[in-house]
Amino acid sequence: MEKRIVTDEMLIKKAIQAMKRSYSPYSQFAVGAALLSKSGKIYTGTNVENSSFGLTICAERSAIVSAVSGGDRTFDCLVVATNTETPSSPCGACRQVLVEFGDFRVILVNPRGARVDTSVSELMPYSFLLNQSK
Ligand code: THU
Repeated sequence: MEKRIVTDEMLIKKAIQAMKRSYSPYSQFAVGAALLSKSGKIYTGTNVENSSFGLTICAERSAIVSAVSGGDRTFDCLVVATNTETPSSPCGACRQVLVEFGDFRVILVNPRGARVDTSVSELMPYSFLLNQSK
């Protein structure tokens, strides 16, 4: 089967759409994520808060959970969208979860066209992994 080409622009659009689906009544801080798997599929995620605040799941982890549940574990690119002046960067917990699935491009955006290009390894240097050889 032919693999469809997914452009950064398409992925950015998906992340902004996902941001608009955020369930964030407590922080009012909406985050959207769009994750492109190496198989060519796009998985989205948004932050889902809870009245027991610690149970909140971030957009990035929600996208990873969706992708792994859909059978994908290798990725080309993650876009994270926030409606902030400067695009927001993934929290420490999300960085650790991203590292679990290797190194890939990460693009941070806002809906007004601001864009920061980075990567998992740049966001999380000297990361902890269990399965490194001794
Ligand atoms: N949040 C994310 O979705 N991703 C991050 O990397 C940082 C924070 C969410 C969690 C919470 O719903 C809101 O943003 C404020 O912390």
